[in-house]
Amino acid sequence: MDQAYSSKVMEHFANPRNVGEIPDADGIGKVGNAICGDIMNMYIKVENNIITDVKFKTFGCGAAIATSSMSTEMIMGKTIEEALELTNDAVAEALGGLPRVKMHCSVLAEQAVRSAIDDYLKKTTGKGIEMKRDEELHHCVIEN
Ligand code: FES
Repeated sequence: MDQAYSSKVMEHFANPRNVGEIPDADGIGKVGNAICGDIMNMYIKVENNIITDVKFKTFGCGAAIATSSMSTEMIMGKTIEEALELTNDAVAEALGGLPRVKMHCSVLAEQAVRSAIDDYLKKTTGKGIEMKRDEELHHCVIEN
């Protein structure tokens, strides 16, 4: 796909799943893209290593909202290890593809998931995960 959004992207943008906040979240991810200024917050609840609830708040473009929505669906019910395997390519693929110029929005979704898990692990084990940095996409992680 080169330019147009898929019907699945449009559907998730118009009707995003799992929007909101979890007040007593076990992990909170906050990431932003330094270039476009879009911000994504992700909240997870974890029981016995399983993600039992996930919500997001995204202040950003349509692709950022659609990829946030899809990524919450993809990690719900998964183990922490499985959720850490989620890639931005998998999120984009599940949405029927993204225009090339919008792929960085899916990176934000992957990073939001990783950031929430990182926060959860730091709180529970004292040791987080190694955050990926994609300098080429000018991606930055906002400190909690
Ligand atoms: Fe910024 Fe999509 S344009 S995340």
